[in-house]
Amino acid sequence: MHLTADLSPLHIQSRQWDYDVTFATDIAGAIDQLNLEGTHALVVVDEQVALAYDAELAPLTQQHPTLILPATEATKSLAGVGQLIDWLLANNAVRSSRIVAIGGGCIQDLVSFTAHVYYRGIDWVFLPTTVLSQSDSCIGAKSGINVLPYKNPLGTLHSPRQIAITTAFTQTLPDLEIASGYGEIVKLAVTGPRHFFGRLKDALDEGGIRTPHLLELTRASLAAKQVIIEEDEYETDLRRILNYGHSFGHALEAISGHNVPHGLGVLWGIDLINWLGVRWGMTDPELAERMSVLIREQFQDALNYRLPIDPKAEDLVAMVARDKKVAHGRMHFAVLRTEGDLVIEPRVLDDQLRSDVAEYLRGDYPFKA
Ligand SMILES: NC(=O)c1ccc[n+]([C@@H]2O[C@H](COP(=O)([O-])OP(=O)(O)OC[C@H]3O[C@@H](n4cnc5c(N)ncnc54)[C@H](O)[C@@H]3O)[C@@H](O)[C@H]2O)c1
Repeated sequence: MHLTADLSPLHIQSRQWDYDVTFATDIAGAIDQLNLEGTHALVVVDEQVALAYDAELAPLTQQHPTLILPATEATKSLAGVGQLIDWLLANNAVRSSRIVAIGGGCIQDLVSFTAHVYYRGIDWVFLPTTVLSQSDSCIGAKSGINVLPYKNPLGTLHSPRQIAITTAFTQTLPDLEIASGYGEIVKLAVTGPRHFFGRLKDALDEGGIRTPHLLELTRASLAAKQVIIEEDEYETDLRRILNYGHSFGHALEAISGHNVPHGLGVLWGIDLINWLGVRWGMTDPELAERMSVLIREQFQDALNYRLPIDPKAEDLVAMVARDKKVAHGRMHFAVLRTEGDLVIEPRVLDDQLRSDVAEYLRGDYPFKA
């Protein structure tokens, strides 16, 4: 094991304001790291988290007005935003108040969006509680709000003032929820100059998805993402590489009726785009194989997870065609060449692609039903 336990803060530069991500080994430590002294703080907490960590969160929830919300797609909707605004007004939140968000990506999106529009922008800080929100979504400033049935058509860019992370929260997450967060960790492990695939593999080999090294992996993921978002916070070319694994991953999720957890869809999408990348003469075959083995061992076999559907190449490619990254009939795929080297490859969504995907699906791919 050559994971160095670097838990020093990450200082994220953002167009709005810079902020720190700090790391703590327990919940009390993470709360201590939040600099709330002298601020009018209001707490918004995921109801599962409030239930599971009632005693640990008491220093926050007993001292500040607290709103407990279910983390559902209906909560992060315009109606949910309205409900939160009503509560902020009823609790006298002013321009200088600060919202403390405690939960996963759902609570993050709701609070981040609302903080952006309330009095044209108030501060918020974040205690993320899921693997996805800790290792990926907490930095980057994006929010997505639903106008149901449409997912995330509304959004803002509103950075938090601080993020304090402890993986102690993740002990109450079900295995599938944890595994789903790893979709982004595996992606970030091969992204940019701070890639860390070898360290990820060692940590998983040693302790599986609940590895004691999860906090170090989380920091490593954010450090890898940091390089990309600092250069390209506003989603142009460079940031597109963060879609690695997502084009076919999203397509699989969609054609399964969203019965495939997001991160597992991404892991599958990574395997498929690596396979295509090898075929296109772009991806290092040996790395594609190592990644495929890791996905099978740690996620398919360890969790005994199989896809609920038998996807068809035509359906997948048709779904990819609806992606917003399609321009002039070409999809802009993020393709891995070797560790740390992802490129954007425009490809026509034609019969050749359908035939290649069909060949992949005839083989023994990860999570095959
Ligand atoms: N803004 C972004 O950049 C961004 C990026 C990716 C995803 N998202 C959004 O994030 C959402 C998904 O977020 P998520 O995967 O973090 O999960 P989530 O917030 O949807 O929560 C998933 C479930 O886990 C529960 N939960 C949360 N923390 C827990 C804990 N510590 N112990 C036990 N249960 C816990 C929640 O109550 C919920 O039932 C989606 O709505 C997605 O659109 C946003």
